[in-house]
Amino acid sequence: MTEKERILQLRKELADHNYRYYVLDNPVVSDYDFDMLLEELIRLEKKHPELYDPNSPSQRVGGDVTKKFETVRHRYPMLSLSNTYNREEVEDFIRRAQKTIEGDMGFVCELKYDGVAIGIRYVNGKLDRAVTRGDGTQGDDVTTNVRTIRSIPLELHGEDYPEDFEIRGEIFMTLNGFAQLNSDREEAGYEPFANPRNAASGTLKMQDSSIVAKRPLDSFLYFVLSDKDLFETHFESIKKAGEWGFKVPLEKDHRIRLAHSVDEIFEFINFWDEHRHDLPFEIDGVVIKVNRYDQQEELGFTAKSPRWAIAYKFKAETAETILEEVTYQVGRTGAITPVANLKPVRLAGTTVKRASLYNQDQIEKLDLRIGDHVFVEKGGEIIPKVTGVDLKKRKSDSQPLVYPTNCPECGTPLERKEGEALHYCPNDSGCPPQLRGKVEHFISRRAMDVDGLGTETVNALFDAGLIRNYADLYALSKEDFLKLEKFADRSAENAVEGIKATVEIPFERVLYALGIRYVGETVAKKLARHYGSIDAIRNAGKEELIEVDEIGERIAGSVVDFMADERNLQNIERLREAGLQMEIEDQGEKGNALEGLKIVVSGVFKNYERDELKEIIERQGGKNVASVSSKTDYVLAGDGMGPSKRKKAEDLGVPIITEEDFERMIEEGHGN
Ligand code: IVH
Repeated sequence: MTEKERILQLRKELADHNYRYYVLDNPVVSDYDFDMLLEELIRLEKKHPELYDPNSPSQRVGGDVTKKFETVRHRYPMLSLSNTYNREEVEDFIRRAQKTIEGDMGFVCELKYDGVAIGIRYVNGKLDRAVTRGDGTQGDDVTTNVRTIRSIPLELHGEDYPEDFEIRGEIFMTLNGFAQLNSDREEAGYEPFANPRNAASGTLKMQDSSIVAKRPLDSFLYFVLSDKDLFETHFESIKKAGEWGFKVPLEKDHRIRLAHSVDEIFEFINFWDEHRHDLPFEIDGVVIKVNRYDQQEELGFTAKSPRWAIAYKFKAETAETILEEVTYQVGRTGAITPVANLKPVRLAGTTVKRASLYNQDQIEKLDLRIGDHVFVEKGGEIIPKVTGVDLKKRKSDSQPLVYPTNCPECGTPLERKEGEALHYCPNDSGCPPQLRGKVEHFISRRAMDVDGLGTETVNALFDAGLIRNYADLYALSKEDFLKLEKFADRSAENAVEGIKATVEIPFERVLYALGIRYVGETVAKKLARHYGSIDAIRNAGKEELIEVDEIGERIAGSVVDFMADERNLQNIERLREAGLQMEIEDQGEKGNALEGLKIVVSGVFKNYERDELKEIIERQGGKNVASVSSKTDYVLAGDGMGPSKRKKAEDLGVPIITEEDFERMIEEGHGN
């Protein structure tokens, strides 16, 4: 087999494995085997850039950046559905339809996925363009991001798909994925997303598709549109879409049903009203559609929605209970979160004792008082929220809540920056939960990953007065651990060894572990690569930091504040003395061959990864920019650079260079 044949074979195989894993939920190879095949493909594709294919499974990792999403007019308007909330309204809908339609009617019942609507056009079996709903008439072109969603096929299966058609559906985030994403965000000091739908829509509008690729987005498709008459019924179209490789609901999972009466429709509705919390994603109701296309056509549309379909919305599950107390939690970054402590009440399958109150504004909006009868609701959020107060039951002598002015843990006056919703305790070097939180973050898996230490031990070390910050960990001896209840000879040794072993952890993770607000893993990596060492980062001013790709005002300010604090610098020195890595290992040569040049890197290269080239540019004093403008000095083009980028560069007279030209520039120095 030639390498070309192997590439084509691997692409096919990997696409099939993706399909089995993400669409059928029935993988036939282990993750490890999948990764091996993917690695082989990437290696071969690098050797054969002439075989570049944007639909290769290797391209699912994203990389292209969209500065501004283009507005696109929908070929067919993207309508919404009218909502119903009870059986009578559903019966009305059917009665109205029967006035127009003679004879039998079938109704397809589907889940109403709570995500973001998307319309995807396929031309000759290949994904061509994906557009958000927008205002229904025009939406945003988010193709680059949608291409990273593994359950959406880049190329269709079989042969009987139309040459040019659109398919619509919903993009959403799974509940597990959402929980993981939020805990990562909180760890990095970002505000968590309120619910999976916000997370999905926020993700879909991100500029960097490689971040989108890492977010757990998923899809279900529910509507095939084409100029040709392809099917007689909606039910058939969904089955067929499944054969083409789309993720569609299956009858065997009871996620779609062809019903012939109101009773059958309500069997479906009631089943899902009861079981919706068993699903790995959020739904907010059921959609009922007239099955036959000729009947749909006869029924037509109103200005806003089809007359052949309606949504049945589940009631948001609410319960009434009593607000017993409001407590204020202090997080690792000092953010204060007010929490309602409630008289325990059953809600959506769990017992609820606490609910989020978000911030001061929310409390004031609700005018909450202790002893109030409050309504709690479990909507898209994982943590229930308080949505209102039963004022009739309010005691006449109740008093409005007073938001604390001082930190409940350390007494320091709280701060609230202009434009921010949250209060912060600024005492980050003395406030106990912040200190503990910072050490917990430091030892966590994605930071220093210290074997043999966990939250419980950190707390015990604090309580015993053995540590106050992460640098103290490196002064701990076996004897210190033996003073703690749960430690014996062996485990104490392991803990000390585990701490020592962190000298192997690369600088970018050390930087992340320091717990600088807004410096999550990605930002830490960027800063580490750009500056190469902690000293260089410390010496960079705010203006200079902002110049770095993707570092904004907020992050730069936070880094500068952190480095301006003498106590942080002391900790860093102690970590350095303990042997932790304070610079990147293989930094490569630094130089100034590209001093001051603004360069766009685009496409796939023979000898380099795109990120590698970006690093070289920065090490040589240049600047990576995402899109071509009149200020761009060069476009470094690999294979498969988008034609629009090329045209723009040509129109603006920006020179387009190859990787060989680039190597020469560095060797000889630009302009020499
Ligand atoms: S069909 C012409 N089916 O609900 C109507 N929509 O309020 C085409 N949605 O914009 C829509 N699940 O974002 C349809 N199984 C489903 C759906 C669904 C969720 C969303 C969709 C639509 C909104 C309508």
